[in-house]
Amino acid sequence: MRLNKVSSKFTLILSVVFLVGIVAAWATLSRVIEQRAEAEVNARGLVLIETMNSVRRYTTSHVNPLLQEDLAVSAHFISETVPAFSAREVFETLRSNPQYASYLYKEASDNPTNPRNRADSFEAELLNHFRADSTLKEQSGFTEREGQSLYYSARPLVVGESCMACHDTPETAPASLIATYGSENGFGWVVGQPIAAQIIYVPAADVIGSAQLWLNVVMVVVIVLFAVIMLVLRYLLARLVVRPVEAIATIAQGVSAGNWTPSAAEMTSLERVAGRGDELGHTALVFEKMAREVAERERQLKEQVRRLVIQIDEQKRESQVREITETDYFHDLQRKAKSLRENKGEVPESPHEKEDPAT
Ligand code: HEC
Repeated sequence: MRLNKVSSKFTLILSVVFLVGIVAAWATLSRVIEQRAEAEVNARGLVLIETMNSVRRYTTSHVNPLLQEDLAVSAHFISETVPAFSAREVFETLRSNPQYASYLYKEASDNPTNPRNRADSFEAELLNHFRADSTLKEQSGFTEREGQSLYYSARPLVVGESCMACHDTPETAPASLIATYGSENGFGWVVGQPIAAQIIYVPAADVIGSAQLWLNVVMVVVIVLFAVIMLVLRYLLARLVVRPVEAIATIAQGVSAGNWTPSAAEMTSLERVAGRGDELGHTALVFEKMAREVAERERQLKEQVRRLVIQIDEQKRESQVREITETDYFHDLQRKAKSLRENKGEVPESPHEKEDPAT
């Protein structure tokens, strides 16, 4: 049926529109959510770096002064005096918490006291960026390391006055430090210059995983919303457009077939449509009036035709009568009848005497 096709077409078009909408929503949302997840992980990384810096400052201002004298005379180097050491120890303690087990912390330098802290090419590049631009306070993003995809947050670590006790020259550094780390590396640092990049690494899967979770939640909500909107629109289309048009179309079919005697149900559905104030209601009203007029005109035409038929019949009969009355035989009969009436008793000769020619 044609009307059914209207709602099918409507559904098809809506589906296409919604599909495009869902794909567009997915494309934009996935980017936005990914960025949000990244920003969240980055913020957490930067807070951790700040925490490590607090640990470093605490070591410099509280622990180091206490052990200063011991360090000067001790044959053994006292690691607890080193800010980098306390930071790493605290971070390792944090990593024992499963929530942070996958996090990595590194103070990557191109001139490290401990070779373990040597910056690789990627980290050296980050450090060079910090050196080139003193206003650059953080860098973050994705990177590949040892076949693993990682997200990193980095900040510059700037040399201060207090650092020079150990990082200036091998001569001024504590003897025990030289004994432990040698006199090759970790010296000649310049105050005010970034000497390392403090970096937090997080597996990229953690970032992408949380983004994917959010994306899934949002997409489910979007799809359910679209489906509900589509059902409501379909229902409204059927109620406000298709059914009223069907009511009008049914009657139109009846009118065109020439026998418009609408059923009570048809009339109520048409009247219901006509009762609406919108365009379709107006159409139904006009249509109802038109259908009535067509029916009335048809009735009048039929009546006229019937009358014409009777008229023609009468004329036919008159002409037949005329034909009969104008024959010689009839005149002869008339004459005989007249003479009969005048000379009562004369017997008519004609065998047609009993026929009444007028009938
Ligand atoms: C008491 C001596 C001492 C002081 C003071 C000191 N450091 Fe160190 N620093 C060391 C030692 C020793 C290491 C190597 C630790 C290890 O084994 O990882 C180190 C490591 C580092 C590292 C890691 C890279 C590397 O060299 O291995 C950085 C970065 C660093 N220090 C920066 C600083 C800064 C910045 C200051 C001043 C705020 C400072 N240090 C103060 C002794 C010191």
